[in-house]
Amino acid sequence: MGDFHLFPIEERVRRDLETMSSFVDKTKPGWTRRPFTTWYEQARNWLKKEMIQCGLEVTVDAASNLIGRLPGKDPLLPPIMVGSHTDTVTGGGRFDGIIGVLAGLEIVRRIKETDTEMRHSFEIVDFTAEEPTEFGISTVGSRGMVNNLPVEMLERKDAAGRVLKECLEMAGGCPDEIPKRARKKGDVALYLELHIEQGPILEQTNHKLGVVTGIVGIHRYRVVVEGKPNHAGTTPMDMRYDALAGASEMVMALEHLCKEHFSEPLVGTVGKLTVEPNASNVIPGRVVFEMEVRSIEVTLIERVAKSFMQKARDIAFRRGLSVTFDLLSRSEAIRISPEVQQIIQQACLATTAATIRLPSGAGHDANQIARIAPIGMIFVPSKDGRSHCPEEWTDYKDVALGIEALARAVLQFDRMV
Ligand code: HGY
Ligand code: MN
Ligand code: MN
Repeated sequence: MGDFHLFPIEERVRRDLETMSSFVDKTKPGWTRRPFTTWYEQARNWLKKEMIQCGLEVTVDAASNLIGRLPGKDPLLPPIMVGSHTDTVTGGGRFDGIIGVLAGLEIVRRIKETDTEMRHSFEIVDFTAEEPTEFGISTVGSRGMVNNLPVEMLERKDAAGRVLKECLEMAGGCPDEIPKRARKKGDVALYLELHIEQGPILEQTNHKLGVVTGIVGIHRYRVVVEGKPNHAGTTPMDMRYDALAGASEMVMALEHLCKEHFSEPLVGTVGKLTVEPNASNVIPGRVVFEMEVRSIEVTLIERVAKSFMQKARDIAFRRGLSVTFDLLSRSEAIRISPEVQQIIQQACLATTAATIRLPSGAGHDANQIARIAPIGMIFVPSKDGRSHCPEEWTDYKDVALGIEALARAVLQFDRMV
């Protein structure tokens, strides 16, 4: 494909990314666009307009995913799908997820501008709420697309009493119809996701493109530690049932467990914790925290989660506390097929020799879509390996390289299969 003429227009990539960066909650740090908020809706409305401008058929599916479709020459072939998410973590950056959706737009523009014809239809998806939501669930839209969003999850409420099902309805979905309208095996020919690496490997090894070999599984639990609230001044140290001191010991126990050596990389984190009553002169009576363990090897995740729970129970028993665990969500680890990796490798090498294979320590919508279709991912470098923070940055020319490689992979697959 030497005469490849689908190169993305770096200037338009910059413009799209900067436009998306304007739809954020400026009362929060970084570039925050949480799902089911005004800013999320503004971004969605802009995306819809851009999709229509590109001549796409625009729909919102039962799980409220926004989909732009470019019909292919052979309507009997299932579509090739690219996508990602435009929601961010609180205090997040401008690239995580967003470049995977904008890449689809840029590919369609170039396909139209160069009169390139595809046999397969081509779909761009902005998956709703990929990041962990206040309902304790992540990859909400992609779960819905593959019918992996059970009623138990749809009925969950957030701290403000909002119900996930109602949020999806307000975002244009029809959750009751998810089982009927979900995509099944064979409904998507290939799903590809362009994403920032969110880690240091590409930058440290001087590579510009990453052929993703696998994506970690993530198991998330809510842990509730109950003690006895009491006066911080009058309660002697040996008469306390301090839920926060106990929870802190549990957090350190998780870190200690995850620092052991395993056959595959494994990480464990507690990133969200609330203290009740959260007053400087009251011994904490109750602590709620969310813990997650990730690895490409699920048996390791299960082993560490089990050991953690045992250590947490021992800590609670010794301190006269109670502790309970609820599984919030579980995403399966994915190993990407050698065939798809080969297609992506060829497309990346045709774009730049600075290509390397690497696993993903982050979870993605691809984890869910892998339940019904072959998936592949391309990474572009993250400056200083940073992500999920305001410092998240990828040079626009690196994003453009990623889009070019993605376009090559899409067209190569379109011709092959
Ligand atoms: O948490 C993750 O791995 C992804 O960024 N949502
Ligand atoms: Mn993320
Ligand atoms: Mn992401």
